[in-house]
Amino acid sequence: MLTATNVTKRFGGLVAVDGVDFSIGEEEIVGLIGPNGAGKTTLFNTITGVHPPNEGSIDFDGEELVGKTPNQVAQRGVARTFQAVRTFNESTVLENVLTGAVFGNSESVSMNEAEDRARDALEFVGLDGLESEEAGSLTIADRKQLELAKGLSAQPELILVDEIGAGLTPKEIDEITQTIERARDERGVSVFWIEHIMEAIMSVTDRIIVLNRGEKIADGTPEEIRSNEAVTQAYLGEVES
Ligand SMILES: Nc1ncnc2c1ncn2[C@@H]1O[C@H](COP(=O)(O)OP(=O)(O)OP(=O)(O)O)[C@@H](O)[C@H]1O
Ligand SMILES: [Mg+2]
Repeated sequence: MLTATNVTKRFGGLVAVDGVDFSIGEEEIVGLIGPNGAGKTTLFNTITGVHPPNEGSIDFDGEELVGKTPNQVAQRGVARTFQAVRTFNESTVLENVLTGAVFGNSESVSMNEAEDRARDALEFVGLDGLESEEAGSLTIADRKQLELAKGLSAQPELILVDEIGAGLTPKEIDEITQTIERARDERGVSVFWIEHIMEAIMSVTDRIIVLNRGEKIADGTPEEIRSNEAVTQAYLGEVES
């Protein structure tokens, strides 16, 4: 579904993403891990058109994503959630999701259809009943579910999730992990998921890609990654430095 080849992103002299190849299959949940500053968010930004790569290509169902604007990428079927929660706190829960439902879809949807999709996404993540609440009054965990609802309301083929577990209790992390897994199982959405919380990512991913200093150092099943020497070294390096 998505095949990236030799993706490289430089910021001045810094090579944030360095010649990375990877793929995401249909209905696959792929984890993206690596120490702080490894280039994970930057890799997402190259996919979504926020920071187009200096080199490389990103093929999505036969179409080149490099050169597309963030809006065009979203309309092509790639949604994302952000590392820092970006809810409009003064707007209602429903209004927040409506922006995703209106702007993320490829075909222009009527306001009624957008509202149906927004309500459906809210129900899917378990926030039905809270439609009229101010988004700012939600708990952190619910705001993260709201971010997922925003992305899912666009009915994407692929959703990029950036560190959604940070700051949540183990139970809340379980709940958000289940929402992500259900998005794949029940809606057929592929997921590319950046997460520092290993238990969460190990429990549901089909495959995990590991970045270190911009380079891909491993790509395999959770079991393979757990016992991978280079991965252990990269994380030890982080602790020591
Ligand atoms: N817009 C930017 N301008 C300049 N440098 C940047 C920019 N965005 C990221 N970088 C640098 O690129 C490198 C990779 O950053 P990135 O945010 O992709 O890491 P990350 O793996 O997502 O880390 P974290 O786990 O802390 O979120 C870092 O050295 C960072 O300082
Ligand atoms: Mg990041």
